[in-house]
Amino acid sequence: MKILRSVDEVRAQSSAWRSRNLKIALVPTMGYLHAGHLSLVQQAREHADRVIVSIFVNPTQFGPNEDLDRYPRDFARDEQLCSQAGVDAVFYPEPAVMYAPDHSTWVLEDSLSQTLCGASRPVHFRGVTTVVLKLFNICGCQLAVFGRKDAQQALIIQRMVRDLNVPVELILAPLVREADGLALSSRNKFLSPEERQQALNIYKGIQQAKETFRQGCRNAAELIAPLRQRITDAGGKVDYVEVMAQATLRPLTAIDQPALLAVAAFFGKTRLIDNLFLEV
Ligand code: PAJ
Repeated sequence: MKILRSVDEVRAQSSAWRSRNLKIALVPTMGYLHAGHLSLVQQAREHADRVIVSIFVNPTQFGPNEDLDRYPRDFARDEQLCSQAGVDAVFYPEPAVMYAPDHSTWVLEDSLSQTLCGASRPVHFRGVTTVVLKLFNICGCQLAVFGRKDAQQALIIQRMVRDLNVPVELILAPLVREADGLALSSRNKFLSPEERQQALNIYKGIQQAKETFRQGCRNAAELIAPLRQRITDAGGKVDYVEVMAQATLRPLTAIDQPALLAVAAFFGKTRLIDNLFLEV
């Protein structure tokens, strides 16, 4: 497995592969890898000939008071996990490789980014779309894999690819959970044992909503209220619990089209997200 640190190194590797007609998949990550990330690598391996994992804690998607400095990092461990997972190359750039000091060009998705995490994290998705398009351009990949754990992010990337005619095929992979149901996240390591137990109520509440929906309930408020209550009762602070149309990420009152039940909540200082795709 190769570790590539510069744009030129990645370009040279990717040209060499493409000249042999090998299909390249990219799995963009911020590192501190877990089984959720590795499931994306698995999908990439199934659908392409060579797999690049990028590991870059992208400063532009963090707000001024967010956890950029605290974001967990362990490159040695990530390297080992990638190697075991059959990754062909890891792109691990320094911030200065990705952003010139006078960087001033942004990719702005202007609609889906306005609600949910976009409402509570104003510059977040501008940073995500910008870095993802840069990574696509650097890696010359034909395929990229994203997880449905970050449902809004996945839908925004899909929109960007469509709107800007980006020649990259996307795979949106299922959300991977811990054995007890908590969504895997690099931020879970910040939870104290007590918060870890409390946070499980996000999943339990989502399961309850799933069952209510399965039984035929199509009233968004009836899915939202008990979930909100459950998180609050467990000591969590709700950022949002919403049912959105998948097509617009605007709130639905009656669930009469493909929808997304999306949750963000704080347990202690740690902000967790989770979701459920509701297909009608
Ligand atoms: P990061 O949070 O490291 O996630 C990288 C990829 O792994 C994303 O596509 C995310 O949806 C996926 N992922 C994370 N946890 C998952 C889980 N439990 N199940 C399935 N997939 C999971 O998302 C980012 O990094 C960044 O915003 C990035 C796209 C790399 C741009 O900087």
